[in-house]
Amino acid sequence: MLRRLSAISSPLRLTLTLGLALAAGVALAQDEAENPVVRARMEAMQKIKVQTGILGDMAAGKTAFDATRAEAAKQELIALGDQIEPLFAAAEDDPASDALPDIWTSPAEFRQKANRMLKGAMGLETGSAGRLGDSMNALSAACKDCHGRFKM
Ligand code: HEC
Repeated sequence: MLRRLSAISSPLRLTLTLGLALAAGVALAQDEAENPVVRARMEAMQKIKVQTGILGDMAAGKTAFDATRAEAAKQELIALGDQIEPLFAAAEDDPASDALPDIWTSPAEFRQKANRMLKGAMGLETGSAGRLGDSMNALSAACKDCHGRFKM
């Protein structure tokens, strides 16, 4: 019995693997928003993630600390943080979107959370890896604060 189970397990595993691969393909296709307004705000969030990642890697010593590069990422985050409100101003939706409708019913609260991120970005200290790491806490808290309230 055990033997027979193991005999069928390999084609079964193949089927499962194929199924998962297909499901992943569908998920990838859905990640790409059709609505250009939604795509623009998701792309801005991805850019925010990239810049935050650059800083996080430097702070953690994963990449060499570079004050010029850190300052550039900080300025980029300030510029992107400034765009959050206008990018989310229109109540646009898309199947790929994770935005909650509360964004448009509680705009003052959304603005307050966008400002919190802006403040976090402006407060980044790019003089050393240690100071950068410490100052990143407020920024990360601002991401979580808004996502916890306005993102699925
Ligand atoms: C004021 C609110 C707000 C702040 C602040 C905020 N986000 Fe977001 N973020 C959102 C919302 C809303 C979405 C979902 C957008 C959608 O899917 O339409 C999102 C989506 C994302 C995504 C997924 C994008 C995609 O392609 O699906 C990433 C990554 C992300 N945010 C990173 C960050 C990081 C990193 C920070 C902080 C440095 C941050 N966000 C700060 C509201 C915010």
